[in-house]
Formats: sequence, C-alpha cells, structure tokens
Amino acid sequence: MSQKNKTLGEFIIENQTSFKYTSGELSRLINSIRLAAKVVNYEVNKAGLVDILGAAGDQNIQGENQQKLDVYANEKFIQTLTNRNIVCGIASEEEDDYISINSQDENNQNKYVVLMDPLDGSSNIDVNVSVGTIFSIYRRVTPVGTPVTIDDFLQKGNQQVAAGYVIYGTSTMLVYTTGDGVNGFTLNPAIGTFYLSHPDMQFPVDGQIYSVNEGNYIRFPQGIKDYIKYCQLEEGDRPYTSRYIGSLVSDFHRNMIKGGIYMYPESSKYPNGKLRLLYEANPMAYIAEQANGKASDGFNRIMDIQPTELHQRVPFICGSINMVEKAEEFMKNA
Ligand code: AHG
Ligand code: MN
Ligand code: MN
Ligand code: MN
Repeated sequence: MSQKNKTLGEFIIENQTSFKYTSGELSRLINSIRLAAKVVNYEVNKAGLVDILGAAGDQNIQGENQQKLDVYANEKFIQTLTNRNIVCGIASEEEDDYISINSQDENNQNKYVVLMDPLDGSSNIDVNVSVGTIFSIYRRVTPVGTPVTIDDFLQKGNQQVAAGYVIYGTSTMLVYTTGDGVNGFTLNPAIGTFYLSHPDMQFPVDGQIYSVNEGNYIRFPQGIKDYIKYCQLEEGDRPYTSRYIGSLVSDFHRNMIKGGIYMYPESSKYPNGKLRLLYEANPMAYIAEQANGKASDGFNRIMDIQPTELHQRVPFICGSINMVEKAEEFMKNA
C-alpha cells in the first residue's frame, strides 16, 4: 500500500513494535487522542452555529479568560483519556492542578501521564481562524500502582516519549512524533478517518518567514529587537516575510512546511515569556527537533530546562535550525 493511503490506525499498529516500550499502551493512548481530536474537530467546525463561541465566564489559574471551547476541549480530552482508563495522570493548561486517575486503585497499571493545551489559540476561535490542541506524553517516574505525584509531571522535555498537535485549519491534521521522526495525518471529514498525508516532516534548514507579535516590539530584549531588524534588512535573501497568526500550532505548522522561525520572547509584560513550558514549549520543541528544527529560550535548549512548576512559562524561539541559531547569536551578543 502506498504510504499516502495509509490510515492513522494502520500506521499506529505498524509502528507499535518500533516504540521503546511495546506494551501497546502508548498506541492505545494515541488512539484515544485521535478520537478526542475528532470530537473536538466536530465542535470547532460548527462553532458558529451552536452556543459555543465566546467567553465561558471564568479565568484559568494563569489569569486568562477561558473561552467556551477551551473548557469543552479540555473536558473532551480528559473524558476520553479517563473513560478508557489509559493514563495515570493528566495536567492541562485549563486545570489548576494535575489530575490523578484511579489514584486509589492499585490495579491501575498505566504508565503514562499526558500534559496538554486542549485549545491553543483561543483568541482566534470567534473569528474563524485556525486553532489547535497540543499534547505531551511521559512515562511516570513514581511506581506503577501508586497515585501520581507532581514529580511525574515536572520532567524535562528530553524525557518525552511522544508529543503532537492537532490543527483545526482549512483541513484538520494530527501531527505527532514518538521519537522516530514526525508524521502528519489529514482528516477526511466525510468518513472521519485520518490519512498519512505528510510522512517524515522536516523543517527546511533555512527559511524566510519570521513569526512574532511585533506589537510588543518595544518591550522585547535587545537581542530580539536586533534579530527582528536583521530579518527586515535588505540583504541577501532578506527582508524576510512576517507572518503571525497568533495560534502557536498554526504558526509552527506553517513554518515547519515552509521554513521559518517563531518567537515569543520575554518582555516587560511577560518577564518569563507567555508560553507554557509543559503544555506548549516542550511538545513543540520535541516535534521541532524530530523534524530537524531547533527550540531554544534564547540561550538554552528548551528540552533541557528542569521544570519547577506546572504552569511555568518560558521564552520560546523555535523553527528552522539556521534561523534559531542566528537569533541565539543576536541574544548572546546584545
Ligand atoms: P492559548 O490560547 O492556549 O492560551 O495560547 C495562546 C498562545 C499561543 O497560541 C499564541 O502563539 C500566543 O498565545 C499569542 O499570544 P499574543 O496574542 O500575545 O501574541
Ligand atoms: Mn489559554
Ligand atoms: Mn496555547
Ligand atoms: Mn490553550
């Protein structure tokens, strides 16, 4: 069968034996994410028709106004993973604390925890612009059969066993890695099946797109200001093109296909940056590295940072390897 006709279900089964741990648990977990993604996709697509647009009226622990779809997607992913008894713990951008699943049940032999951003790009929901879901999977570090602890969630990104995102765009895609490259699957909405449409995705080594919220320019560190000016200079293949959707998933996805750099640096408004290390930066960094790209906080590899709290934020620079290294050079020399 040609690679392109392969369904996600077939792909998962075929690749099951290449996972480091082959109990089938990780495959079942990715299958559950596939299911939840379809449910959320269905709701995102009819968002304008039903009462799902707009604010939910609450704030999450990070002080952001929750949108109805933030809450809906959060519930659907948690429900799917919990009902199928497939993980031992979940942490989410939209939950104050981590969730321990079946913590009293010694028969819960599940080894994996999931960390997620159920709906990325919330501010784009009401205006019909692409949003996404990001997930990150680790093996627990505490003994199987005991309740999970915070240590199971505060692992460095380099310990991830899988990570991925769903993009609810002009078409819906699921893109993920289990440490053996990155593959993208497109949903055929007529039959509800994901097909392998983008095998072995790779960031071009160089690119000509830079993605940053330039409204924050005067608040950026000098190194980032200098790099942005470098992008705008008329020299060689520059000036680069500026593209910023405001959904990390969509900006990342475009840059991975076309070549580019995404930046959410620290600023006087967000001294540690805005993006969350565990739900956004680490999974995207893992995908980037698996696709021959790079992810940095300006000075250090994202995946080597030791997390100290669940909702920790981090400056994030990610994309084509040569572009990220150039931005790091400007940070170092500023
Ligand atoms: P979320 O919707 O999950 O809270 O994430 C929003 C993030 C990210 O997706 C996006 O790149 C960034 O915030 C946009 O922030 P600005 O509006 O400050 O540019
Ligand atoms: Mn949010
Ligand atoms: Mn997000
Ligand atoms: Mn979110």
